[in-house]
Amino acid sequence: MSANTISTARKFKPLVFILLLCPALWMIYQAVFAQQLLGADPAKSLVDQSGLWAIKSILFALAMTPLRILTKQSFFIIFRRMTGLFAFFYAITHFLIYSILLLGLDLSQLGTELTRRPYIIVGFIALLLYVPLAITSTNGWQRQLKRNWIRLHKLVYVIGILAVIHMTWLKKLGLTTTWPYALALVILLGIRIVNTLNNRRMAQLKKH
Ligand code: HEM
Repeated sequence: MSANTISTARKFKPLVFILLLCPALWMIYQAVFAQQLLGADPAKSLVDQSGLWAIKSILFALAMTPLRILTKQSFFIIFRRMTGLFAFFYAITHFLIYSILLLGLDLSQLGTELTRRPYIIVGFIALLLYVPLAITSTNGWQRQLKRNWIRLHKLVYVIGILAVIHMTWLKKLGLTTTWPYALALVILLGIRIVNTLNNRRMAQLKKH
């Protein structure tokens, strides 16, 4: 990556950070100062908003590599870690709001929900898979794990798929709301697969 690209991308980092933080600030504003905006069930509304921002941020994070492939610009890669960590932040917030505000921290009820409701099981697996990615997101871990870091961080594709299944399984949203997320995921993963296959083909051609 050229030094010029890095310095331009770094200038945009604070802006991207603030943009990704805005939904959280908006949720805090609604909860503290404007509960009427949250409707009849404020806790549910906050669970929904944080869930939606978790899945949007996962898709943003997954979009960085395809954007690099399509534009041939490394510029976007600078934002990959930050968007991925924001997705984790919104997923944890979503889980905490659900456990504290909706279930009143009743662990036995959480246990029951986790065994009875398939969409909650899928969401929980996605969240658990996210933990090692968030922990190993630092440069230090990247250096230490070397190629295994790349292998481990491929889990983000599985998380994206589970997140879309979790959302679709809810049913209350209906396919009209969920299909754009599913389509975005298919396109983002499709671009990577096509690119990997092309790279392999080129490498084989070079060998002969
Ligand atoms: C990566 C992890 C997760 C993502 C991306 C995610 C995303 C979402 C999304 C997009 C929705 C729909 C929001 C809407 O109705 O507009 C949702 C709803 C919901 N999620 Fe998650 N979720 C995740 C993990 C979890 C976990 C771990 C739990 C609980 C253990 C959970 C519990 C719920 C519940 C209860 C709802 C429905 C709330 C309602 O009925 O309105 N989610 N989630």
